[in-house]
Amino acid sequence: MSADTSTDQVRARLADRHAALADRHLREFFADDPTRGSDLTVTAGDLFVDYSKHRIDRETLTALVDLARAADVPGRRDAMFAGEHINVSEDRAVLHTALRLPSDASLEVDGQDVVADVHDVLDRMSEFADRVRSGEWTGATGERIRTVVNIGIGGSDLGPVMVYAALRHYVDAGITARFVSNVDPADLVGTLADLDPATTLFVVASKTFGTLETLTNATAARRWLTDALGDDAVAQHFVAVSTNAEKVANFGIDTANMFGFWDWVGGRYSVDSAIGLSVMIAVGPERFREFLDGFHRIDTHFREAPLEENAPVLLGMLGVWYSEYFGAQSRAVLPYSNDLARFPAYLQQLTMESNGKSVRLDGSPVVGDTGEIFWGEPGTNGQHAFYQLLHQGTRLVPTDFIGLAEPTDDLPTADGTGSMHDLLMSNYFAQTKVLAFGKTAEEIAAEGTPADVVPHKVMPGNRPSTSILAPRLTPSVVGQLIALYEHQVFVEGVVFGIDSFDQWGVELGKTQAQELTATLTDEAGPGDDLDSSTASLVQWYRAARGR
Ligand code: F6P
Repeated sequence: MSADTSTDQVRARLADRHAALADRHLREFFADDPTRGSDLTVTAGDLFVDYSKHRIDRETLTALVDLARAADVPGRRDAMFAGEHINVSEDRAVLHTALRLPSDASLEVDGQDVVADVHDVLDRMSEFADRVRSGEWTGATGERIRTVVNIGIGGSDLGPVMVYAALRHYVDAGITARFVSNVDPADLVGTLADLDPATTLFVVASKTFGTLETLTNATAARRWLTDALGDDAVAQHFVAVSTNAEKVANFGIDTANMFGFWDWVGGRYSVDSAIGLSVMIAVGPERFREFLDGFHRIDTHFREAPLEENAPVLLGMLGVWYSEYFGAQSRAVLPYSNDLARFPAYLQQLTMESNGKSVRLDGSPVVGDTGEIFWGEPGTNGQHAFYQLLHQGTRLVPTDFIGLAEPTDDLPTADGTGSMHDLLMSNYFAQTKVLAFGKTAEEIAAEGTPADVVPHKVMPGNRPSTSILAPRLTPSVVGQLIALYEHQVFVEGVVFGIDSFDQWGVELGKTQAQELTATLTDEAGPGDDLDSSTASLVQWYRAARGR
């Protein structure tokens, strides 16, 4: 039986399950299955994951796992970990998991010992980070480095930004990090405004070293530096992270100060490569290695746990369940941790650049929707902004709640008797409870609510959520959370039958922006070959700029 036939058969079973369950309420699921609250949970590394508040029964769970098996998630997973070229459109291995293998592991890919390569770069990064942290590496004037400015975009920015914020409590050498990504000059100007060139180190992070935004910002930053300290200062104040030594050298950065990685690391999977250098300098090599170890713990879980107890498989298949059978368009990720404020933005690139595809591996069109849309804000801020729609709107938005047992900071509550962190977490628990169980018209009427107001106050419930709890926001836990989502995205991509590791859709806009730049400034303006809408927009802009 071909994979397609067997997946079709399981999909038919799932369609039946959906027909049977679509009108059932989570209140009934819990009443019928009293132990589901403790049974439908899984532990992966330090992460405790409760998926009991989903619109599934145990028969559906079995069918979802069967679909993962029929789509060959285990085989594709093993192919990824083994370094097979599962990125078919670019004919590349996909080996971000090798970035976190311990040094005594072995993995040879395309004739190359990748573990040795990874640890060679990690050792060089560690040595460099230690020199900067200790003050042995100074700026051109002999002063210590106080600020690291990472210049990069997409995967060369979002990961370091998010992880640096998450680990701010581990910043311990008097060196802070800042991040510049946008080609809007406001980003660079605002970031450098209060910095001293003599104490600033730039990390130019770009896998290709050909990205317009990054090279433009890096060139402007170099001008800012050399205007103050002269051309010779570049060697002490600029290092690069890239796979492209030639372009790094052409830019004027000594390749002795370049930290490499490999084409088998996708940009959105690269924060655990040398792209994490700014984080390593801020928190230290030891903490960075704990971060990598966190990823590795979830990698091991993903490889070894039976599919029925495999957190990324279960959560990925729940994503498929809502997307394929309930027509859900998006998933909200709601960290009850201010330090994880950028986690939803980080996950947007991870999931949408990976799985926003319309063709299958063989180039044929996909059937149905791919690519969940992730969005979110930290709780409790989101509660006072968009939760109204989550609770009473017409759209089904599955949610992920992320919470921590130990706070990174705590303060007494207003009356001085409690902990603000407990207050935060009581909101976490209350929201998942209300989303699931709601409040009926009878309950609301019984409180004396006027009949005409009752419908407005009904809380329908039956809104699914996953609760993820971790002990504390340590480097390891941050790595674990990232890997948990990386593998969910992988599982969904396999079931959709797509290549999750290319991103051709972002290329055309880049080349057309370059072509249009001249149109904005040259004397002739837009030519006849430009469509009438873009031409008139360009004309409006030129007129406003006095051209
Ligand atoms: O435009 C998309 C993208 O290619 C991402 O995949 C990548 O993370 C980002 O651009 C930055 O690319 P680079 O690291 O090569 O500068």
